[in-house]
Amino acid sequence: MARPFRLLVHPLFFFWLLFCGHIHFASFVTSASKNGIMSPEEVIFPPHFVPSNDPDRPAGHLKIFGLQRPPNGPVIEYSSVLKPQEFWDKHVKQNQPLVFRQAIADSPAIKKWTDSYLKEKYGDLDVLTELKKENRTHGVTGRMLLGDFIDTYTKKNLYVVTVLPDPMRQDLPILACIMCGSFKDFLHELNLWISSGGTRSVIHFDADHNIHCLVAGRKDFMMIDPIFSNHMNVTRPPQFGSGFSMVNPDVVDLNQFPDIPKVEWRYSTLEPGDCIYIPSGYIHQVRSYKGNRTISATMLFTASLDGSFDNSSCENETYEYRSLSEAKVHWTYNKGDKTIDMGYQNIERFRETLLELFQGKDRINEQIFTKMIENEFELDEEDVQAIQRDTTQVYREFLDPKGKGYITQDDIKALSQDALKKVLRQCEAPHGPVAGSEDDQGGTNKFRTAGRKSIEEDNDERQTEEVKKDEL
Ligand SMILES: *[C@@H]1O[C@H](CO)[C@@H](O)[C@H](O)[C@H]1NC(C)=O
Ligand SMILES: *[C@@H]1O[C@H](CO)[C@@H](O)[C@H](O)[C@H]1NC(C)=O
Ligand SMILES: *[C@@H]1O[C@H](CO)[C@@H](O)[C@H](O)[C@H]1NC(C)=O
Ligand SMILES: *[C@@H]1O[C@H](CO)[C@@H](O)[C@H](O)[C@H]1NC(C)=O
Ligand SMILES: *[C@@H]1O[C@H](CO)[C@@H](O)[C@H](O)[C@H]1NC(C)=O
Repeated sequence: MARPFRLLVHPLFFFWLLFCGHIHFASFVTSASKNGIMSPEEVIFPPHFVPSNDPDRPAGHLKIFGLQRPPNGPVIEYSSVLKPQEFWDKHVKQNQPLVFRQAIADSPAIKKWTDSYLKEKYGDLDVLTELKKENRTHGVTGRMLLGDFIDTYTKKNLYVVTVLPDPMRQDLPILACIMCGSFKDFLHELNLWISSGGTRSVIHFDADHNIHCLVAGRKDFMMIDPIFSNHMNVTRPPQFGSGFSMVNPDVVDLNQFPDIPKVEWRYSTLEPGDCIYIPSGYIHQVRSYKGNRTISATMLFTASLDGSFDNSSCENETYEYRSLSEAKVHWTYNKGDKTIDMGYQNIERFRETLLELFQGKDRINEQIFTKMIENEFELDEEDVQAIQRDTTQVYREFLDPKGKGYITQDDIKALSQDALKKVLRQCEAPHGPVAGSEDDQGGTNKFRTAGRKSIEEDNDERQTEEVKKDEL
């Protein structure tokens, strides 16, 4: 599933595209994948390994990922949620995934989130969408009203992968394991995922720790320790942000990726109410099946900036049920917001990046600052336009509003998180369409074009015109 693109694409990536594009295309044609067109009843998970007798054709060649070797067993499971200290000691610190069975079973989301309820209560909120089969080289992110998605999602190849809109937080709990201690201050993004089933992520890893909770349907997880990343042709090493494997998980071509049989894996099937913890950098792949509507809520967090854990805020914690509305979250979305802030980094980590730009100096001036921002956060022309990047304006408005002609490290340390967020939005590409932009089909555009023909008609017309042009 498309996890937030935390950092820019690795330089080697374009090399990959050039040299591997044709190979992928070939394997795509050789064997159509069954994953995604099978219903949950037909699926065998974990995949059942069958050894090969043919030395020229190793087990699992051109088959779904998982058939190349037997699993090492299921992910460790708990029937109740751990307290933060134990969660830190046994799992977060050690990079060990886990499953909490029925951790959100008592939440309103589990009991209430039918399609009609979601549409009536939250249908006027904007969501970002992707295609059901994730493809990070040919991804398309759209923006639309949740209500419009619900009206059409069983017929369209769309997957809601978005920031959990603020009002929906009231229907979900803060898990006890992150209720206090350092985790509490470093919860930086919540996500919502909805599909009619048949989704498939690439094999990938994210920069942040993630707790993925299933509200409806079924999802299967393949979990791989990052020590095996050197066998998987990943776009970047897992200790440097997010990335993915070039292996097509539906059709594993062992001629192209001969080391896949060395990759050990564990598995888990989530049912409604269950949550899985996926450590930062941990490689995983997620599957859902035809006709099986799935809804998930995920929580992204950073343990701390320096790798230590401070439990002092746990002293008087009662661990009683509290809704996610009460959590402090760095990046959020509410109705009317121009951007849906998905995939940005921990705001305190960004503060550290800004401090590093000083390279030990006490102060830097506007010219140096803007140059460094443009070098450190290189964007292509399209993205610069989309966010209307103006680093001079950022400097003058947020960093040196009094015009003293320089900024100091203390100025950066004193910046509010809100100001930092405004600066960061000018540094990275937005994850999806900005409200009112051409490819936004959400609330803003609906409102603007009310009374005119629908956006979809517009698009259909445009596409027809393009086809006509091509034919000429
Ligand atoms: C992504 O799309 C390209 C072109 O359509 C295809 O060659 C490639 O195999 C796809 N990647 C995955 C992981 O499905
Ligand atoms: C907090 O940390 C200290 C030192 O690591 C430990 O002894 C104590 O049990 C922890 N308290 C809680 C509530 O987890
Ligand atoms: C993947 O990596 C292995 C080992 O480094 C290499 O032999 C293989 O050619 C790579 N596959 C592709 C498609 O580049
Ligand atoms: C989805 O699959 C699960 C597991 O097989 C099943 O219990 C559930 O009823 C299915 N849900 C739908 C909506 O088909
Ligand atoms: C816990 O409660 C005690 C007694 O009311 C109080 O002195 C202390 O400051 C509290 N600790 C925290 C972390 O709030």
